[in-house]
Amino acid sequence: MRSLALAFVLGLSLSCRPPPPPLPETPAVPSGTQPDQPADPEPETPRLPQVWGPGALEDENPDPAVVEVSLTARAETVTLPGGRTLSMYTYNGQFPGPLLQARVGDRIIVHFQNDLPEPTTIHWHGLRISDQMDGNPRIQNPIEPGGRFTYDFVAKEAGSFWYHPHVRANEQVEKGLYGPIVIHGDADPAYDLERYVMLDDILLSGGGFPPFLETGHEMMHGRLGNVLLANGAPHDEPLSAVVPTGRIERWRLVNTANARTLHLTLENARFRVIGSDGGLLESAYTTHRLSITVGQRFDVEVVYDSPGTARLLSHVPTTSGEAAIPVFVVDVGTNDAVPREITWTVPPRPARTPGRTITLEFDVVNEGHGPMWRINGQAHPTEPILTATEGETVKLVLVNKAGPEHPFHLHGQFFEIVDQGNWWTHQPGLKDTVYVPGLKTVEIIAYLDNPGRWMAHCHILEHAEVGFMGEVVVEPRP
Ligand code: C2O
Ligand code: CU
Repeated sequence: MRSLALAFVLGLSLSCRPPPPPLPETPAVPSGTQPDQPADPEPETPRLPQVWGPGALEDENPDPAVVEVSLTARAETVTLPGGRTLSMYTYNGQFPGPLLQARVGDRIIVHFQNDLPEPTTIHWHGLRISDQMDGNPRIQNPIEPGGRFTYDFVAKEAGSFWYHPHVRANEQVEKGLYGPIVIHGDADPAYDLERYVMLDDILLSGGGFPPFLETGHEMMHGRLGNVLLANGAPHDEPLSAVVPTGRIERWRLVNTANARTLHLTLENARFRVIGSDGGLLESAYTTHRLSITVGQRFDVEVVYDSPGTARLLSHVPTTSGEAAIPVFVVDVGTNDAVPREITWTVPPRPARTPGRTITLEFDVVNEGHGPMWRINGQAHPTEPILTATEGETVKLVLVNKAGPEHPFHLHGQFFEIVDQGNWWTHQPGLKDTVYVPGLKTVEIIAYLDNPGRWMAHCHILEHAEVGFMGEVVVEPRP
């Protein structure tokens, strides 16, 4: 039955579309499994499930509790699917960078080599690790060209995370420096397939990246691209896959754009949200449109009920309204399988009441060199915007006094959104990034459990570069 379905699916793929572009989507496959087929029950489950998406880093350490990998950043000419050639920055020659995956509790060691023509660091977005390993250039001296650094930390929570530089991030991320992280939990539900889809946009003109931070518009609104990308595939040659009907998958989605908030719908397949920045949700929810601001992750369960073409559409504003652009296209073949029901249990989190409330006001001034973003009246404040004690629960009132939006990101901690500012549907679960709409106020409750000095900034990377970058200090419990 399965091989018949496979033959049909392959035939469909050959007759309807040109051969798929060479995507960096197939990591080395352990013998006996196929990346795009439901896994047969195996006598011994592999230590880490296969995740479809950017090819995975190879674990160089035989110790099952240690993941030890090597990453090199370098300038490189990259050919995107469809043939565009671009001068980019890559991790290990891959765009997006390779998948880093581990199990909860694993120690992760990353031997990093900087072969870029400029200093850099790596930030592990969303992981609650030590501040010494967080890629914060106020703590870690940026790694000079030719330099090396070993990142060494323990993955405490399961979920979907990502990594990117934290030096001139607006330029380095745009040029291609980002990659996915999956931390697998012991109680993770088993899907037919997991995919990591990294959504981005880049601004191209004349076959390359125009200069950075040169216009007031870019400082005001961030750099909005004109090419949408999914795992590096541009929207005119979108990412694609072939599946049989009846399949149920887990997609891990991240928005890695410099500035563009994404509004997504899925055509000809069902989906519900099962996870967020901080891992699986206690209960799934459905939404017609999924909005993801930059930095955020959403895990969705995708069910293919009927044959045809399922398309992930990105809705982008145009001068005349909105365009729905397919960024991921899935050919769904026929099969008589009925999708399974998948359930999981997340232990409820104990309720925590904030002991105090801190207000942060965001505004913009123009002092002649273009706009500067300010937190409580200061651009790039040098004093902490909040000092707390490990274990404290603090309500943060985020007041946006200007028109442009801010995806506010706090390193090293999780928070929950209590009031989304009358905007979007409520985003439940643990978050590290929240969308603060223009001229609105958003309330979050932060669980400041991880001691250290933590960056708190707008994830519109241009805003962070021109002022919107502060520090939250969490003092160790005495
Ligand atoms: Cu995704 Cu301060 O970072
Ligand atoms: Cu901002």
